[in-house]
Amino acid sequence: MKICMIGAGYVGLVSGTCFADLGNTVYCVDKDKGKIEMLNDGEIPIYEPGLDEIVKKNYLAKRLKFTTDLGLAIRSSDIVFICVGTPSSKKNKSADLQFVYKVALEISKNIKKFKIIVCKSTVPVTTGDKIEKIISRRTNKRLYEVISNPEFLREGDAIRDFRFPDRIVVGANNKKVLKKISALYEPLIKKGAKLFLTTRRGAEIIKYASNSFLATKISFINEIANLCENIDVDVEDVSLGIGLDKRIGDRFLRAGPAYGGSCFPKDTQAITITANKFKTNLSIIKSVIKSNENRKKLLTRKIEKILSNKIRNKKITFLGVTFKSNTDDMRNSTSISMIPALKKRGANFEIKK
Ligand SMILES: NC(=O)c1ccc[n+]([C@@H]2O[C@H](COP(=O)([O-])OP(=O)(O)OC[C@H]3O[C@@H](n4cnc5c(N)ncnc54)[C@H](O)[C@@H]3O)[C@@H](O)[C@H]2O)c1
Repeated sequence: MKICMIGAGYVGLVSGTCFADLGNTVYCVDKDKGKIEMLNDGEIPIYEPGLDEIVKKNYLAKRLKFTTDLGLAIRSSDIVFICVGTPSSKKNKSADLQFVYKVALEISKNIKKFKIIVCKSTVPVTTGDKIEKIISRRTNKRLYEVISNPEFLREGDAIRDFRFPDRIVVGANNKKVLKKISALYEPLIKKGAKLFLTTRRGAEIIKYASNSFLATKISFINEIANLCENIDVDVEDVSLGIGLDKRIGDRFLRAGPAYGGSCFPKDTQAITITANKFKTNLSIIKSVIKSNENRKKLLTRKIEKILSNKIRNKKITFLGVTFKSNTDDMRNSTSISMIPALKKRGANFEIKK
């Protein structure tokens, strides 16, 4: 199949490359000229283990193309994936959808024959309706279908997650379109991936609910860790003891720094704001957000305590500053708030690679 990934970031580049590796022709488009130049020169703009070899293999086989020409990529493809960022808006921390809507407008200008428009970006429920509305202003309804296919890959394990996903969620109402998307994912389904079909709105909410649940698990064990420290119990034992219960599971149940990264902080915020709009109070998720903020402060206070509050001129080492291992993504990493707070009090940091 001919596919176009709009946005060659962590999601668009990894999933586009993996789709090419399944035998499809994939155009990865980005508005960032520097990124596309790097990719065409054989350099990978992000750190993701194993990605460079698969990019190289598919680029040389001419199945994977990198371009800034959005119109050409859309016109050349049957399926168009929207993979642009949906960061927290500065105003109220809801999802900032300006990139998604801009892309929707560009798509509407380039539809000459039938296209499936797939929103892979994490977007609040009803965004698919709005994308459809933008496209419908210029395009005949029979020439496109907007569906939702949220992405669940984890940075650092992204290729494995693409190839062996727990599930593939697709939200669509049109049977012909479902058949085509199922065919695209057929090689993964054959290997055991479950295809979960639902409505477009259902798929949109599944993504936010999943991330919020995982963030809740992390915050839960972090709070249990606080209790364990006060009662001289090893929280790792507690994690194992709880996690062996199949109803709970042991993943995302390790105490550590506050959760960070480019997804959990923004997505937990965004879902509570969306829920408020629909007159629903997601009080558990709101508490999780607060608990996570407290965790950052608590860890900074812990360092102060270890140093008996004598921070000035102390050399402090952070073994890793990204939000987790095997990624170079610094977005919303806990270290971003901890290091400046300690630096302000006079601590010394050297940056080493
Ligand atoms: N990073 C993850 O681990 C992850 C996992 C699952 C879902 N998601 C979701 O996927 C989406 C993308 O995340 P990401 O981390 O890949 O973002 P990213 O910031 O790494 O990449 C987005 C890319 O889109 C490009 N872009 C923006 N507007 C464009 C336009 N008009 N035309 C062409 N390119 C454009 C940007 O230049 C950027 O390179 C977000 O909604 C995110 O929440 C991310």
